Amino acid sequence: MVRQQKGKVRWCMSRDIQRMVDIESACIENPWEAEDFEICLRSKNSNGFVVEYDGEVVGHLMFTHSPGRFGLVSVVVHPSKRRMGLGSKMVRHLLKKMDKVDGPAFTEVMVSDRQLESHQFFKSLGFLATGIKHHHFGPDHDGYRFRLKKLSIDEYGLEVVS
Ligand SMILES: CC(C)(COP(=O)(O)OP(=O)(O)OC[C@H]1O[C@@H](n2cnc3c(N)ncnc32)[C@H](O)[C@@H]1OP(=O)(O)O)[C@@H](O)C(=O)NCCC(=O)NCCS
Repeated sequence: MVRQQKGKVRWCMSRDIQRMVDIESACIENPWEAEDFEICLRSKNSNGFVVEYDGEVVGHLMFTHSPGRFGLVSVVVHPSKRRMGLGSKMVRHLLKKMDKVDGPAFTEVMVSDRQLESHQFFKSLGFLATGIKHHHFGPDHDGYRFRLKKLSIDEYGLEVVS
C-alpha cells in the first residue's frame, strides 16, 4: 500500500522561529535558541524549510550552501508526527535543488554516533556514511558524515545527445 504523503514544505520565515524553538526544546539534547535560527536565516549562505501538517508547523530543516555543496545542518520533526514521511519530504525538497543542472554536487550531514534512528533515516534516503569525526559533538561524542552525491549523467545511464 502506498503511504499517503501529507504535509506541505515551504521556505522558513521569521514568524516560524518560536514554533521551531518549541519543537527543538521538546526533543533535542542541545536545542537551538531563537537567535541561532535568526543568524541562520539572515546569512547569505544558509536557509531553511518548514513542513506544515494540518496548517501547523511540525518540523524544519536548516541548511548551508557553498559552491558545490549543501550542508544539512539539522532536520527535526515533532515527536508526535514522526514516521509519516515528513522528514523525508523536507530532505527531498532540498535534493530537488541539488538535481538542477547547476546545483551542488553533493549534500552532506554530520550525525551523532548516538542517533542510530537518524542513521536509518539518512540511509533510507540514499545517503552513505563516508566518514567519522571523533569528538565532533563533544568529548567521546563522535559524528558520522553521511553524504549523497548528485548522480553524473554516466551514473544515470543516460546517453548524451548532441
Ligand atoms: C530523523 C527524523 C528527522 C526523521 O523524521 P521522520 O519524519 O520521522 O522520518 P520519515 O517518516 O520521513 O522516515 C523515513 C524513513 O527513515 C527511517 N526511519 C525514520 N525514523 C526511524 C526510526 N526511529 N527508526 C528506524 N528507522 C527510521 C525509516 O526507514 C523510515 O521509513 P518507514 O517509516 O517507511 O520505515 C526525526 O526522527 C527527528 O526529528 N529526530 C530528531 C532529530 C534528529 O536526530 N535529526 C537528524 C540529525 S540532524
